[in-house]
Amino acid sequence: MKATAIANSNIALTKYWGKRDKKMMLPLNGSTSMTLDGFFTKTTVEFGDFEKDVFIVSGEEVEGRPAEKVYKHLNLIREKAGIKQKVKVASENNFPTAAGLASSASGFAALSVAGAKAAGLELNEQELSILSRRGSGSASRSVLGGFVEWKKGEKEDGSDSYGEQIAAPGYWPEFRMVATIVTEAQKRVSSTSGMAQTVETCPLYPGWLSSVEADIEAVKKGIKEKDLTLVGSTAEHNALKMHATMIATNPPIIYWIPASVEIIHAVMTWREEGLECYFTMDAGPNVKVMCLEKDQEEVVKKLEDLGGVVRTEVSKPGPAARLVKEHLF
Ligand code: PMV
Repeated sequence: MKATAIANSNIALTKYWGKRDKKMMLPLNGSTSMTLDGFFTKTTVEFGDFEKDVFIVSGEEVEGRPAEKVYKHLNLIREKAGIKQKVKVASENNFPTAAGLASSASGFAALSVAGAKAAGLELNEQELSILSRRGSGSASRSVLGGFVEWKKGEKEDGSDSYGEQIAAPGYWPEFRMVATIVTEAQKRVSSTSGMAQTVETCPLYPGWLSSVEADIEAVKKGIKEKDLTLVGSTAEHNALKMHATMIATNPPIIYWIPASVEIIHAVMTWREEGLECYFTMDAGPNVKVMCLEKDQEEVVKKLEDLGGVVRTEVSKPGPAARLVKEHLF
């Protein structure tokens, strides 16, 4: 059977950085995020009597490591469903991959939702989140819409480590995440190797772990109360703490480029001047700026006036992953 799903990417408000189990993709800390309406992956999966597994991205066949990761993920689904057939997968992103815009999150969420359906599995939201997590940790959050918490869980089998909605997309529709693109280039250190290096070599990492839970509670409270000051200031501080641990690994991982730092300083200055906005960054040089709808136009204009900014893309809280009828092949 053939099935197609769309999953939106998400940006963490409090970050996931560090695994306690690499195979099961279990985190050392919980995280929270907003699902983005602006960025998504569409994926079609078909199991059948094909000669070999095939993975096509934007019309081009992909081989090597990215394809292997996709087939490995589909093996989990084949095992669960008890099928041995080969698979054909086609996928499209409406944004550049691997530049810190969470393509793995939307990618593995879309692959899991489409793959499970194509294999005849009827999985609930929690099971789909757990399955997506096995492909990429942050994908566990992209199965849900709006504002999401990924609970780190305690169990070794990962059955208590999944995404849960904090608030639906329509709860706080004024919240904006402005993805500020400074380069479309692929990131230099993948999040997987960056996390492993941080856990192994960073002397600051225990400090990170000891402060994350309080940030998660603050962000959840801020979302419930629709308090941008609380959500934004907590998210900003949390991102800086994560980047401090990245920078203090051996060898160092510095995702920032001059344009990223320029945006950080600009956001802090605008805030001092009374324009309320906050920044966050992931495993790449692009910066995401949080603000409310009423300030969106001004924030976007100011960002686009900065020298190093290539373009901006504004997102509201976006929908959950879903099956769609229009297939890619
Ligand atoms: O799930 P991954 O491997 O894409 O890792 C995500 C890591 C960060 O984007 C830096 C943080 C996060 O929680 O999304």
